[in-house]
Amino acid sequence: MVGGKAMRFGGLNMEDGYVKTYIEGFDDKLHGGIPVGSVVLLVGQPGTMKSSVAFNVLFNSALEKGIKGLYVTLEQSSKSLAKHMTSMGMDPEQVRDKIEIIDIGLIRKKLTQLQEQSWMQVFKMYAKNLKETSDYQLLVIDSLPVLNVLAKFHNPREELFHLFEWLRDLNVTTIMITEMTPDTAKFAEYGEDFLADGLIYLRMAEIGDTNIQRQIRCVKMRSVNHNGDYHSLLFDHGQFKATKAISNTRG
Ligand SMILES: Nc1ncnc2c1ncn2[C@@H]1O[C@H](COP(=O)(O)OP(=O)(O)O)[C@@H](O)[C@H]1O
Ligand SMILES: [Mg+2]
Repeated sequence: MVGGKAMRFGGLNMEDGYVKTYIEGFDDKLHGGIPVGSVVLLVGQPGTMKSSVAFNVLFNSALEKGIKGLYVTLEQSSKSLAKHMTSMGMDPEQVRDKIEIIDIGLIRKKLTQLQEQSWMQVFKMYAKNLKETSDYQLLVIDSLPVLNVLAKFHNPREELFHLFEWLRDLNVTTIMITEMTPDTAKFAEYGEDFLADGLIYLRMAEIGDTNIQRQIRCVKMRSVNHNGDYHSLLFDHGQFKATKAISNTRG
């Protein structure tokens, strides 16, 4: 639990203070899930299922507990995201009254209506207004590198520090997706791994000479005595599962 904030989420069955990832075999490695109120980075190369894993949290929280969520998709349109999630058995229509998806087109429209405002101000205004009207508990930002480009951060370290603080004050649990390039072993470019309360890493690992396996690892989770091992990540019949990774892994 972060700063006793779980109290405010009491009515929504988050009284245990954790947001489940709904990855079978992974929540128990986190001793329940992501502490309510955290800002958690979800890091990986393209195609490692970052968007799917993040949407899976929102979708199942909405289905199982009626928890509301906001998904801000900046890399792909909301239509394209909905299509992908439907193909994975998570049709956003099923939880239409619980999950709001906003994309860059919608933010651009607001931006032209509010000409004197910066991109970041419009984003914050939208997120805050919606928090007041719908009281969503979960927020996904997909992705931080695109947000950086759109908001034209002049001093990324400082602006990210303020953004993370702003998100904590919003009283939501945030999953912030960030992308790693294949040529770097670094999780973050501007120290956001230090700023974040948690970091979950997704990768495609080479097994032997011919096989590739999706893997997941909790690198960091403040106030949780988590298991930091690699687990293989499977998606089967609409359900994510994590099992102990095979040991002869490279990559
Ligand atoms: N129905 C499906 N079942 C399993 N995997 C799928 C399915 N549909 C797409 N994928 C995989 O999901 C990947 C894309 O997932 P996505 O969450 O968009 O990744 P990321 O956000 O990390 O780029 C694709 O590379 C594809 O291999
Ligand atoms: Mg994605």
